[in-house]
Amino acid sequence: MGITAFIVRVVAKNMESQELYNDTFFNRLRNTEYAKLDKSGHVYLDYTGANIFPQCLLEEHYEFLQNAVYGNPHSNNSSSQLSGKYVSEAREKVLEYFNAKDYYCVFTSNASAALQIVGECYPFSRDSHLLLTADNHNSVNGIREYCKSRGGAYSYCPMNQQELSINEENLNAQLKGHANKKNKLFGFPAQSNASGVKHSLSWIWKAQDQGWDVLLDAAAFVPASKLDLTTISPDFVCISFYKMFGYPTGLGCLLVKKSKFLKLKKPWFAGGTVSLVSINSNNFFLADDSDRFENGTVNYLDIPAITNGLKFINGVQIGNITRRIQELTGLALQHLMKVKHDNGLPVIKIYGPKDTENRGGTILLNFFDRHGQQYPYQSIEKIANENSISFRTGCFCNPGIDEINSGIRSEQLNSYFASRDKAGYDDMVGFLGKLRGAIRVSVGIPTVTSDISKFLEFAKSFMNTSVSPFDIIRLRDPIMLID
Ligand SMILES: Cc1ncc(COP(=O)(O)O)c(C=O)c1O
Repeated sequence: MGITAFIVRVVAKNMESQELYNDTFFNRLRNTEYAKLDKSGHVYLDYTGANIFPQCLLEEHYEFLQNAVYGNPHSNNSSSQLSGKYVSEAREKVLEYFNAKDYYCVFTSNASAALQIVGECYPFSRDSHLLLTADNHNSVNGIREYCKSRGGAYSYCPMNQQELSINEENLNAQLKGHANKKNKLFGFPAQSNASGVKHSLSWIWKAQDQGWDVLLDAAAFVPASKLDLTTISPDFVCISFYKMFGYPTGLGCLLVKKSKFLKLKKPWFAGGTVSLVSINSNNFFLADDSDRFENGTVNYLDIPAITNGLKFINGVQIGNITRRIQELTGLALQHLMKVKHDNGLPVIKIYGPKDTENRGGTILLNFFDRHGQQYPYQSIEKIANENSISFRTGCFCNPGIDEINSGIRSEQLNSYFASRDKAGYDDMVGFLGKLRGAIRVSVGIPTVTSDISKFLEFAKSFMNTSVSPFDIIRLRDPIMLID
């Protein structure tokens, strides 16, 4: 065994012996509900992408599907009534879980579909303003196109470069501005899907106090944090359930505050969304509850699995999950920052906060060689894939965070977009002459300390290395490596 490998094993052993809160419980969960991870020898570190489902969810749902006949809930026969009952139960459980008695729960296919309802139905006009934080998922960014197409204006609030937190001065000024506008919508993520930063939920009432409606993207937040809609009350909230408990996929929801329900103007109707439509008379009435926004038949065979998913989370307890994720993240941050080349230069650069305050279980980073040259994330990912380590790379549908981290200016972006009518990542990187993108490592309920130490071992294997011509060739254009 080489000396580096020896040190790595010792560090890994130390890390595994570090006492974490409820570690025995979570280790047992890993060995039972998530046994397939170890069976396949997989180090899964992409929980912000998707959670892994516990075995019990699969078994319970399989039994549910096998035990009865379920029909389309739009019919009124007994099999349909049965489906309807389970869909209603799941809806109730979602509202209960988020303490959302003043909300409607609209089932959607994912968080993006929930956001699309807001984009499509919010009364954007010349008399409106859409304010977004630069840290936003593209499914929120895309709402600006609905706003623009109806003559509304939009703007972004920048982030602080070091902490990747909201620039409070700018946000306060923008919230105060646009006072003459009638419909003002402010959209931000409770937790960044790219950096893991948890943004202050106090912006919700601060914005509301100044006449803004607030859209809270909670997709990356709720898998490991409690969202209690009696303590904060954003007007619209989007969620994807596979991020919370891994199964089912293809289901999310939009929580709409009842007092803002009528503010959303649905521009069309579809099956299941109306109480009455006529063909001979040009009239229709929309349903006056969540049905209004659920076009056609809902996913009635999978929706009942949400009830089990929430039961599972309640069993583990969200407070325990929050603490577990925080401790694992702290452990990873603490050890990764110490990985240095012999000349003292760091192997890893972490973007955003370096401690666990105001952050979730997502760590955004890049690898650097012994000369301080950044490795293209594609090379790192290729080696990780060969070692059965899964994380996510690229820009994570969050261009704002990458534009800050990669130091890309608006003028450069404007000239790039002006010079093309279609584009791709490699093409843009070639044009800019600098690398973009990063590596996102995220932990979840099934993560154990050995996953962290295996990633640390992986990181250490880059100590004292140099970006090789192989990495350069993979990127087509060597100039890109010169920042
Ligand atoms: C913060 C955030 N918002 C929105 C989305 C979109 O979720 P979905 O792809 O499930 O629609 C994601 C997914 O990664 C996310 O992390």
